[in-house]
Amino acid sequence: MDNTSQILERSAELFAGQRLLLVNPPADSLTSELPADWHIWTWDYFVQQGLSSSLDEPHLSFSHLCPQVEELDGAILVMPKAIERAEYALAQMAPLLKAGCPLYVVGEKKGGVTRAEKLLAPYGSAIEKLDSARHCQLWRSVVQGEIEAFQLDDWQRSVRLEFSDQTVDLVSLPGVFSHGRLDEGSQLLLEEKAPLPAGKVLDFGCGAGVLATVLARRNPDSRFELVDVDAMALYCATQTLSQNDVQAQVYPSDGLSDVHGRFAAVVSNPPFHTGIRHDTSIAEAFFNEVTRNLLPGGELRIVANGFLKYPPLIETHIGSCRVLRENNRFKVYSAAAPG
Ligand SMILES: C[S@@+](CC[C@H](N)C(=O)[O-])C[C@H]1O[C@@H](n2cnc3c(N)ncnc32)[C@H](O)[C@@H]1O
Repeated sequence: MDNTSQILERSAELFAGQRLLLVNPPADSLTSELPADWHIWTWDYFVQQGLSSSLDEPHLSFSHLCPQVEELDGAILVMPKAIERAEYALAQMAPLLKAGCPLYVVGEKKGGVTRAEKLLAPYGSAIEKLDSARHCQLWRSVVQGEIEAFQLDDWQRSVRLEFSDQTVDLVSLPGVFSHGRLDEGSQLLLEEKAPLPAGKVLDFGCGAGVLATVLARRNPDSRFELVDVDAMALYCATQTLSQNDVQAQVYPSDGLSDVHGRFAAVVSNPPFHTGIRHDTSIAEAFFNEVTRNLLPGGELRIVANGFLKYPPLIETHIGSCRVLRENNRFKVYSAAAPG
């Protein structure tokens, strides 16, 4: 079990037999091993897929919004990576709790749980650290009075982006990549005006949907599909497309797990993790798998930090890799699938 689940299990007497909302858990066995009436809210499709064999639909929600569970005894937030997303989640969780109910935050110390006291302050009193073990902490506050209802409009941001050929209204939520602005790498990819091949185009890791929106307008003979692992990104991408009158299909996928068929092109600003070393394993898995979703001669067009060693990976898995554009930080690469 994940460290955060282990620390919850150490306090099992607080949770056993209760009706609980558990938000952003890892995909592990906590909910099977600790007997409670669990209601899970996740925005991570990998977790949704992992827990769907042990929890049925009313108990497992994959969404940008918190399920409206009634008569809760308490709620637990597993600290997300982005602090703004913790604020967004707590603002939805707290109004579901009656006065006197506990609201918990658990997480890794290096993942920002030490900010729990500040995060919980708007929603209750008697805030205390209950446990600290396995590099994690468990915090609790007790909800006081009526908490203001959550309004999505207070959190959703819409910004107008000006491109040389069009204006795009981009909708985003806290914790969605490049919230409220255009990423410099995505901008460089969109400066490239070479047309995409006609037919189906996949926007992999679509975020708030900026790549597909701009490129769909420029390439009227292309039909876009957008995928992301994050429910908040999928919601924002759907909103961005509709605000800009672009028709496209949007659906969840962990990597290319739910992408079927072959595409004339795949465009992406692919995710990569930074740690002590730059981890290119996600990108490598993507380059390896994407060949089965490209038509013969189909184009892979991506943008990435210039220091990432993507060209040899692209050449191993897809084919000869050209630099379409570059600046001092990013490079836009294009490769054609064999065929
Ligand atoms: C660098 S951002 C690019 C977002 C958007 N295309 C843009 O240009 O603004 C990468 C995106 O990949 C998504 N992502 C991360 N891991 C993923 C996975 N395993 N499967 C699908 N999408 C993933 C993230 O949620 C994020 O939205």
